[in-house]
Amino acid sequence: MQDKISCQRQDEADRLRGLREQFQLNDDEIYLDGNSLGVLPRAAAARVQQAVVQEWGQGLIRSWNDAGWIDLPQRLGDKIARLVGAAPGELVVADSTSVNLYKVMSAALGLVAADALGSTRPSRTRILSERSNFPTDLYIAEGLARQHGMTLELLEPDEILDQLDERVAVLMLTHVNYRTGRMLDMAALTRAAHDAGALAVWDLAHSAGAVPVDLNGAGADFAVGCGYKYLNGGPGAPAFVWANARHADRMRQPLSGWMGHAAPFQFTPDYQPAPGIGRYLCGTPALLSMTALECGIDSVLAAEPLGGMQALREKSIALTGLFIELVEERCAGHGLTLVSPRDPALRGSQVCFAREEGAYAIVQALIERGMIGDFRAPDVLRFGFTPLYTRYADVWEAVERLQQVLAEGLWREARFQRQAAVT
Ligand SMILES: Cc1ncc(COP(=O)(O)O)c(C=O)c1O
Repeated sequence: MQDKISCQRQDEADRLRGLREQFQLNDDEIYLDGNSLGVLPRAAAARVQQAVVQEWGQGLIRSWNDAGWIDLPQRLGDKIARLVGAAPGELVVADSTSVNLYKVMSAALGLVAADALGSTRPSRTRILSERSNFPTDLYIAEGLARQHGMTLELLEPDEILDQLDERVAVLMLTHVNYRTGRMLDMAALTRAAHDAGALAVWDLAHSAGAVPVDLNGAGADFAVGCGYKYLNGGPGAPAFVWANARHADRMRQPLSGWMGHAAPFQFTPDYQPAPGIGRYLCGTPALLSMTALECGIDSVLAAEPLGGMQALREKSIALTGLFIELVEERCAGHGLTLVSPRDPALRGSQVCFAREEGAYAIVQALIERGMIGDFRAPDVLRFGFTPLYTRYADVWEAVERLQQVLAEGLWREARFQRQAAVT
């Protein structure tokens, strides 16, 4: 059984503990929401100020060349590639995850249709996804299914393998589920999709910077992901998009903007896509946001000399396992049910509990007590663990505060019942 002292000892022995210094954290708060909005890397404030005051203020238009602004989508893409098992030149930073998902799903459906031309195979009219996938993924897929006269079919994770057949065009999944933290087997599901002749599209929103990912090793076809969660890129940070090199010169994405053109500054009237992943850019990149995002990505890459994603994963499993153990021990009898997988191999870097009554209000009361997680409708208390800055002692203290809020019934007070726009 763990106690406060043993947690502190684990922090002393933690070879990743110095990474915490990179972040601006409030002394009295325990932040368990890096899966929603990562913490501010100290370097980002100074870097954004430099970009605003010097590069924009002094350099003005010259900075597109002199400060390397024009190359940022690729430069940041190469850095993220190191975290997700992609090669340099295969990934770019652009737009939002939703928009990138629209691009890659369209590209995937286009490839499947092109391959089916002249074939005697039955046409592929099914898009498969997970019922509890993040809503934006489902909304984008639903829109595309309507546009292409296809059907979007939503399944439980354990039903997917049985449903992959010759009528499936694309299997689109989120690697780590936003509500449960369940992690899917990317390699096995991609292989099964390919065996059925379908393509596999992965959303890495809760994976990039959180768990090791090997896109090329898994043979995935396309992937997208968020910059503002475990990559610590700041609110509304741009997202990323990856395509397997084997599709590079055949794939077309529908948002054919000038930044995805092979030679944007030739200003030709016809569209010629840039080679490879460059064609997934659309309009002018959000420069100031990208400067912040680069600091966020660097904060994760800082773990590379200490074992990188593998070392972060080991600590993440230890933190989430400790949290589950302490909550079940110290908050027993308070109606919390674990909804995240107990098996660490199936769990991302978050832990979620369901509670029939008061889940939203409990999260609000916890925030007032300086333990920040979030609520996901209808009944989930969600806690994200970022091993870059979360300590074992924080886990102890977080459970202490949760236990107090539940035992005192603090959450029943009226002020915690009013639901804000963002939960
Ligand atoms: C799995 C997943 N995909 C996508 C998004 C968000 O996409 P966007 O950056 O377009 O808002 C989220 C946000 O939480 C998410 O959890």
